[in-house]
Amino acid sequence: LADESVGMEALLESPMERCASEDGKPAFALPARLYGAQRPNSEGLDPAVAEHRERLFAAWRQVAVPRVPEASAGEASAAARRAAEAFDAWNHRPVAERAAVLRRAADAMQAQLPPLCALLVAEARKTWPDAIAEVREAIDFLRYYATEAERLLAPVELPGPTGERNTLRLHGRGAWVCISPWNFPLAIFTGQVAAALVTGNTVLAKPAEQTPAIAREAVRLLHAAGVPAEVLQLLHGPGETVGAALVAEPAVAGVVFTGSTPVAKAIQRALAAKDGPIVPLIAETGGVNAMLVDSSALPEQVADAVVQSAFRSAGQRCSALRLLCVHESIADGVIEMVRGAAQALVVGDPTDLATDVGPLIDAEAFDGVARHLARLRTTARALLPEGEDATTHTVAPQLFEIRHVAEASQEIFGPVLQVLRWRGDPKDVIAQVNALGYGLTLGLQTRIDSRALALAAQARAGNVYVNRNTIGAVVGVQPFGGEGLSGTGPKAGGPHYLPRFCAEQTLTINT
Ligand code: NAD
Ligand code: ALA
Repeated sequence: LADESVGMEALLESPMERCASEDGKPAFALPARLYGAQRPNSEGLDPAVAEHRERLFAAWRQVAVPRVPEASAGEASAAARRAAEAFDAWNHRPVAERAAVLRRAADAMQAQLPPLCALLVAEARKTWPDAIAEVREAIDFLRYYATEAERLLAPVELPGPTGERNTLRLHGRGAWVCISPWNFPLAIFTGQVAAALVTGNTVLAKPAEQTPAIAREAVRLLHAAGVPAEVLQLLHGPGETVGAALVAEPAVAGVVFTGSTPVAKAIQRALAAKDGPIVPLIAETGGVNAMLVDSSALPEQVADAVVQSAFRSAGQRCSALRLLCVHESIADGVIEMVRGAAQALVVGDPTDLATDVGPLIDAEAFDGVARHLARLRTTARALLPEGEDATTHTVAPQLFEIRHVAEASQEIFGPVLQVLRWRGDPKDVIAQVNALGYGLTLGLQTRIDSRALALAAQARAGNVYVNRNTIGAVVGVQPFGGEGLSGTGPKAGGPHYLPRFCAEQTLTINT
């Protein structure tokens, strides 16, 4: 998995680096800020950290976000035909060769970590810690799926009667369309593409229109690592046109989609309406994620987990906490701590290492969150001051008290948390959360182990986290994905993901 010796965390976690801006104003100028009074150079830093600090700064000085051309409908069709034609040759390459290609791409990403981070900050408006974590996750996907594919695609000899040999083999299905969102524009993009490629499929990749440049970099690295151009083709453009055109292509053998629930359903309908073979869809979508806190929970631990889960990445994670359900006996104390911690967060310029909550991705996202805030300000009790800035698209953490779980029925993709007090049986709360229909992450805060296990078993949630935050699933450690309105499964970064990209053949030979 990603090399832990990179040293960026040491840089980011150093309190000395969380310096204030020299002029007190946010600016899109990280190096200038850090070359300022507090630390004019790397003196005194661990040499490994100093080296990476210099590489990070150098990358930031050079970063540019290129414009990318959009594909036309004709180009999408031609690409689909090329992908279908290229399938046999790629599928017949030994899995070890395809795995080696992924590992070379992982090494290249590791070597390119600073420029990739800089591009994520510049294009996707990620904070530096989020950018670093994202590049690492992309590397993890490449290495994990390489290893998984070698295990999974090895032929399995099955028992049979004397005189008969039975072998089960998995192989690719054909040309896959990989459609990814802007909020993890490198990690999710790379994960989808790597899974499809390593199992023998060819790929038509359609990244989010907000973040094409980072996808282009990932594809450049994969091509340089040995993926033929016709095996991995990148098509930019809006989902409604380019994405929909790719899904409609007759030559497509599968679609993997990560994004919103309504778009997943639209793709499912489009696939069902097509003539020809039944085309599988893997959809990973949104969530209205809850955390249940009982009276035995530790309020400090709860507050920390809540602030991380609800406000990190400005709440622009599918896994983010949207609904906090606190037992009434400790609700006042917990809410007060969350309010205090939320107000201490630094909101603003993503390029400043001190920033905790960066901006939303764009004006459309900002307007969407602003509409929810306007609604909540009339229907719920606001517990934090307003803090939207339509110019920078930043939203300061927001907390609203609601009275019924059902009031939190929509995913609000920003740093907005709804809280309610409960009493009685926690199973009733979980039942109400289940009834929302989503099923992505769930947090449980309790010191009663048997209760945690019982509630986890009752919950319809793909990832249940006990006594910690609910974000940042680690590849190969916390396979990630949901059920119901949150997706079709399987879980990315887990052992059951790759088989969904495969067809299976049983070979029976009468000897
Ligand atoms: P989105 O659904 O608007 O777009 C996702 C992708 O689909 C983009 O590439 C877009 O261009 C494409 N698209 C849009 N309409 C299309 C169509 N008709 N046909 C084909 N493709 C189309 O989502 P978003 O705003 O980019 O991302 C945020 C959403 O993604 C949130 O709901 C979030 O919860 C979800 N998400 C889920 C996961 C997960 O793993 N479950 C991870 C990240 C994000
Ligand atoms: N996989 C991402 C997380 O767990 C979305 O936060």
